[in-house]
Amino acid sequence: MAIPASLQNGLKLPVIAAPMFLVSGPDLVVECCNAGVIGTFPSLNQRTTEGYREWLHEIKGRLNPDAAAFGVNHIVHPTNPRLMADMMVSVEEKVPLIITSLGAVRDVVDAVHGYGGVVFHDIANVRHARKAAQAGVDGLILVANGAGGHAGVVNPFALVEEVRGFFDGTIILSGCLSTGRDVAAGTMMGADFAYMGTRFISTTESQAQPEYKQMIVEAGASDITYTPAVSGIPANFLTPSLVANGIDPKTLPEHKLDMADEAKAWKTVWSAGQGAGAVHDVLPAGALVRRLQDEYSQACDKFYKNRH
Ligand SMILES: Cc1cc2nc3c(=O)[nH]c(=O)nc-3n(C[C@H](O)[C@H](O)[C@H](O)COP(=O)(O)O)c2cc1C
Repeated sequence: MAIPASLQNGLKLPVIAAPMFLVSGPDLVVECCNAGVIGTFPSLNQRTTEGYREWLHEIKGRLNPDAAAFGVNHIVHPTNPRLMADMMVSVEEKVPLIITSLGAVRDVVDAVHGYGGVVFHDIANVRHARKAAQAGVDGLILVANGAGGHAGVVNPFALVEEVRGFFDGTIILSGCLSTGRDVAAGTMMGADFAYMGTRFISTTESQAQPEYKQMIVEAGASDITYTPAVSGIPANFLTPSLVANGIDPKTLPEHKLDMADEAKAWKTVWSAGQGAGAVHDVLPAGALVRRLQDEYSQACDKFYKNRH
């Protein structure tokens, strides 16, 4: 159990700003890394593989010498026609952290290890965690109940403990982690990193529309609907954005609604996790990271003071 040595440089807090479709881009990544947490984005947020390479060049050019590492998310599935081309760019550009979703594949892991990179794979249940561990990934991202995007349904305590029973790599906990106190709690549970999505949507540098950022500020856990109707796989969405698109949250089908393509669906119906209730403002990512650091140290101090 540890943070890989190659990801420790410049890291001021064990936090990864999670990759988010249509939301994370170079501005958010650069701000996060320069402030001391790992910034990431999905390669598919750029329309082409060449555009993806340009973003990598831009990010590398804007990072301070003491910045934390950055990462890229690849969807490892036959429905992603860009996988091979994007992976080749990641290998050529030596992306420090590769985050794989859906498929955990030994060839991808070997290619990344070949240039000294690290692979984390996201899972929402123990069966998938076992498969990914067998593929040789360095870390498992445990996507627990209530997370933004394609969330799991397992309680985070249950997931961390069960996975730790057979996996001794890096554990990254995902789902409703929004404050520095949450980061400290995740560490106490046995996670090495906190993976934070929803909290970073409401930052100045995120690519989300201003109305989306504000909807999260106003939302609580009871404003989140878990449904497969938008993307075919169950995911969490802001109920007011379903309503704004003429979708009645009380009569959602168990299958995907006809909403044109996936990108259009996510552009109009906005995803967030139950941790939205802990998001009260829109602020620059650097200021958010400094606040997380303060909250984290206060939580640790309080714990040490109160322990028996
Ligand atoms: C709008 C949105 C888009 C997302 N897109 C992706 C994605 O493209 N790839 C991915 O691996 N995870 C994606 N996720 C999941 C996040 O990476 C992360 O697991 C999740 O947001 C963490 O939970 P939290 O939102 O409660 O912090 C997305 C989440 C949100 C909210």
